Amino acid sequence: MRIVLVGPPGAGKGTQATVLAETLSIPHISTGDLFRANISQGTELGRRAKAFMDAGDLVPDEITIGMAKDRMEQADAAGGFLLDGFPRNVSQAEALDEMLKTAGMNLDAVLDLEVEEDEVVKRLAGRRTCRKDSSHIFHVAYRPSKVEGICDIDGGELYVREDQTEDAVRNRLEVYHTQTEPIIDYYKAQGLVSTIPALGEVKDVTQRAMDALKK
Ligand code: AP5
Repeated sequence: MRIVLVGPPGAGKGTQATVLAETLSIPHISTGDLFRANISQGTELGRRAKAFMDAGDLVPDEITIGMAKDRMEQADAAGGFLLDGFPRNVSQAEALDEMLKTAGMNLDAVLDLEVEEDEVVKRLAGRRTCRKDSSHIFHVAYRPSKVEGICDIDGGELYVREDQTEDAVRNRLEVYHTQTEPIIDYYKAQGLVSTIPALGEVKDVTQRAMDALKK
């Protein structure tokens, strides 16, 4: 299956994508995680992306689209993938369509995680992310690690992402409404969108997403 996960910052895309990708045996491709890995490895791409990310702005398309395409062309993604955080504007969605068309493929579903803004703010305020692998996500109240400050999965240090400041979160929400939400209509026109209420326990949200994918 080829799936796109969309939703505001803090909706739980990374949390859900990890479980869904494992259940469906497809790779979880997060452009945010790819950027963070590049930053921690000190690459030129990471250096160019960092200032945009810290401010909560989108990294320019000319950097993002090539990086996402390279990842989707890797062998493990030949049978499908779950995209988390890409596409994030209509021009990225058009680039993805073009790429899939050239490869003779298509998207199967777009899952739109729906959650109110005050819940998103609470989720982001308490989030802790693993420094070794940013797809390992915890929350001080909702999903605490067994040992405070240490990732349960690989023992990495848990930290507060630089884009979790109040100003950056406000900007990310604004960017989401103005630049990312239009892709929901873009995909509705293709009949691909399932809206998933993302309040409640993580496992219940996963179940709703799986039910939507079966339809
Ligand atoms: P990215 O890493 O994609 O961030 P985001 O989309 O803003 O989303 P988040 O990772 O903040 O939240 P999430 O929805 O994954 O929620 P999470 O699972 O962590 O992008 C970061 C930046 O990279 C962008 O701002 C941009 O600069 C750049 N970028 C990335 N892609 C780009 C692109 N395509 N184009 C241009 N730039 C791009 O959950 C949040 C918290 O809630 C966690 O603590 C979690 O434990 C908790 N939680 C999750 N589910 C539940 C639940 N059901 N109940 C209670 N708590 C929950």
